[in-house]
This record gives sequence, C-alpha cells and structure tokens, in this order.
Amino acid sequence: MNHLLTIGDLEADQIQSILDLSAELEKNPKSVLTGKNIAFVFEKPSLRTKVGTEVAINHLNGNVIPIDADLIFSSGKAVPFTSRESLKDAMMNVSQWCDAVFARVYSHNTLKKMADYGEIPVVNALCDQHHPMQALADLYTMQQKFGKDQKLTITYVGDANNVAFSLIEIGLKLGHTLKFSGPKEYSWKEEQLGYFSLLAVEHGGTFIQTSDPFEAVYETDLVYADTFISMGEEHLYDEKIRHFEPYQVNEKLFSQAKSSAGFLHCLPAHRGVEVTDEVIDHKNSWVYQQAKNRMIVSKGVFATLLTGVKTEIQTNGAVKVPS
Ligand code: CP
Ligand code: NVA
Repeated sequence: MNHLLTIGDLEADQIQSILDLSAELEKNPKSVLTGKNIAFVFEKPSLRTKVGTEVAINHLNGNVIPIDADLIFSSGKAVPFTSRESLKDAMMNVSQWCDAVFARVYSHNTLKKMADYGEIPVVNALCDQHHPMQALADLYTMQQKFGKDQKLTITYVGDANNVAFSLIEIGLKLGHTLKFSGPKEYSWKEEQLGYFSLLAVEHGGTFIQTSDPFEAVYETDLVYADTFISMGEEHLYDEKIRHFEPYQVNEKLFSQAKSSAGFLHCLPAHRGVEVTDEVIDHKNSWVYQQAKNRMIVSKGVFATLLTGVKTEIQTNGAVKVPS
C-alpha cells in the first residue's frame, strides 16, 4: 500500500496483517521508525488520533513533525494574498523532508490531492467520509474481545457518517454481519448501499439497514454509536438533531442486545445525547480500551507503510517481527 486513505485501499489479508503486526509491536516494541519523520497536519481538532498516534510513533523511535494546518491548506482562501502557496507546492516541499503525512481534513478530496501532489505516503486521520484508523482500532478491539475467528453481528446506531462508513467497510471485508439503523433522512446513498452489498457478497458477510433501532440491536454482539453531528456540520444541528432522538443508545435499547454484547464509541461522546451514562459506563462498554487501541494499530500502519516490516506467521501460529 502506498497511502491509507480509506479501508477500501486494503485487502482483508492486509488488514489482518496490520493488526497482527500492531499486536506484536505493542508486545515487543522495536525501533522500526528510527530516522522516519512523520508530518502531522490537522484541519480539525483531535485528541485520540493525534495523541495516540504520536505516542505510537514515539514508541517505535520515529519523529512527529507538527505542521500548522494553515501552511498546507491556505490555498482555498478566497481573499487574494491570504493564501501562502498552493497545496501542490506545500506537499512537494514537505516531501523533501518528511517520510509520510498524517492528515485530518474536512474534505476527502483534499486527501486525494495531497496523495497526488506529494511524493510520500498520506494517511487519513479522518475526513468527512472516512476514518480508517478508527476502523482498524475498532476491529482490533473486537478481535481482543471475541477472537479472530468468530463471525459477529455488529450494529451501528445513528448517523451515516465517516466512522460508520469505515466500520461497515472493515466489518464486511472481514465477513461479519453489519446492521445499520438511523433516520432515513440521513442514511446512505444508493451507490453506497450498492457498495456495501457488493462487499457482503464478495466476503461472505451481510449488510442490513433498518430505521428501527430495536430491530437492529436485537440479539446483536456489539452496539456502536458516534455523534449525531460531526465536525464541520455544526450549522446543521437544529435541522438534524430532532430526527435522531429515537437513536440514542440507552439502557432500554442496549438491553435488546445479547447479554454478553459490548458497546463501542469512537469518542468524543456526547453523554445524554447519542449515548447515556448507563451505557457508556456499563461493564460491557469497551470505549477506553478501544481508545488505547488507536495507539496500538497506528504502530502497525506506520511500520507497514514506512518500513516494509511484515509479520511472519510461524507454523505454531505465533507472530514474529523480524528485527
Ligand atoms: N475518535 C477520534 O478520532 O477521536 P479524536 O477526534 O479525538 O481524534
Ligand atoms: N463523526 C465524528 C467522528 C469524530 C471522531 C466527526 O467526524 O466529527
């Protein structure tokens, strides 16, 4: 892989190999990123993605180079001379010094341009349509809880957003059953539904959409929630929020899932809005472990992209990272 812009960039076996490498590097940290400089450029706020990934890179002895987002993304400004330089020039400059760019942007199109213009790998730290690093951590958490072989039913309740898209993609690629429940006004486009159906057929999973959250959560293995209003669409709050009331994950809804079912949320959570305290603080809520896993899977992603280090599955099933 040259870039990681979407989960669609990865085959199922590459996803598993990133997760296996992440686990191994977490257990036995190695200085595989020595001499590697990774530029961080964030157009939107971040706690988990920024700090978790920076700590991961520190553990592997790499360097994080924070770049002010205005220096990279100013070219879209409407007022003449407030723009410093074109995105192309900025990316070509950063390519002379750094080994990769980790970028959080408003528009997925910006990431595609960054990948086209520069000469170094671009990794998506969240955009309007995708959150691949989150999805890798989500799958890693599920595998910690349920093992790698069990086929799960995973139910996402809420907005058809970036986190949901990447979760559905990764879940279907690994052959799981994905259920989505949200208001029909804020659901998937036909072409996205077609893509999910294709993934399901190709990998032996199932995709089910229903506007009834109780039907979606019934007997599921996992309930997943995210904010109803994503960064960049705060102006839509009044228009959107009234449609989402039935999609709050509260005790009544969560009790429809299997008694062993877990709760995940990418965070930040809005307690009392998309999830209640009772659910996020429930004994089966794994949200902090999920947040820790953001750091762990970043190790596998950057080691794979920048070093070509691979896991070797030994005959006894153990995973070994060549030193
Ligand atoms: N889940 C997630 O991406 O969190 P941040 O926005 O804090 O990075
Ligand atoms: N859907 C949310 C995810 C935050 C991690 C957003 O884009 O704001």
